[in-house]
Amino acid sequence: MKKWFAVIGDPIAQSMSPDMHSQWFAENGLDASYIPVHVTADRLEQAVSSLRELGCSGWNVTVPHKSAIIEYLDDIDPFARKMDAVNTVRVMEDGSLFGLNTDGIGFVRSLEEQFANSGKGKEVLLIGAGGAARGIGYALVSEGYGPITCVNRTFAKAERLAGELHAGAMPIEDAVKQIAKFGLIIQTTSVGMNFADSGMPLDPTRIKPETIVCDIIYNPLETQFLELARKAGGLTMNGVGMFVHQGARSFRNWTGMEPDTKQMIETITKKLGGI
Ligand code: ATR
Repeated sequence: MKKWFAVIGDPIAQSMSPDMHSQWFAENGLDASYIPVHVTADRLEQAVSSLRELGCSGWNVTVPHKSAIIEYLDDIDPFARKMDAVNTVRVMEDGSLFGLNTDGIGFVRSLEEQFANSGKGKEVLLIGAGGAARGIGYALVSEGYGPITCVNRTFAKAERLAGELHAGAMPIEDAVKQIAKFGLIIQTTSVGMNFADSGMPLDPTRIKPETIVCDIIYNPLETQFLELARKAGGLTMNGVGMFVHQGARSFRNWTGMEPDTKQMIETITKKLGGI
């Protein structure tokens, strides 16, 4: 029987996940479809039970449901539990719902695909202390990256995240002064997204050349932060790779198959106006 998958969120119309997964299903000869479902916060519980009743095989979860969905699942991966966030649900053979989180590990896989020396062993500067930073921070720690230093506009949150990751924390001004010591810099805040805010979370102009600088934003493909880092000699990576790799981990979890990530990164980059 044809299988179907979904992504739930609010808003959801802009999601590129349906095109991405549909293409991977076709490329891998799987008879399955993937649809966006608009679910508001007050309808989450009903949406989960409807997806289950209607025979959905698995779904992605995006803003604002990543934490809220946990209480409606039967079991969740320990890593997702630590992060208090689920972005992938798999319907098991017995019909139970299993949640996991592929965002952070998707970021690390993207980093490793793009750079032969992915920044392992170098000092890491993690900018931001929200959900995205937590996911990436936990994945970096579990994959052996670090030492990590956390910075954030609200310093208390940087300190809290650093406590969880057994990492360091410092005020943004101090990180700017010491920026040349970091070999891997990861920008996880929403600053610079959708051209709405042309500001920067910190000034990267005095990085050491060849520093790997990542921004998890992919629209625009190059934020002002990333542009300045590139002009300062940084090796830059935008958020397309993380988006594709988190999806690839979901796809693998549902199907047991490895989708083509490199080609998909090119396709999405072109779609977003890049080359
Ligand atoms: P996400 O799940 O995408 O990480 P979030 O949990 O709301 O979203 O976290 C947003 C992050 O972006 C936070 O680190 C936030 O900083 P604060 O903790 O100080 O709020 C950061 N952020 C958002 N807008 C910002 C701005 N204009 N300048 C600097 N940091 C900003």
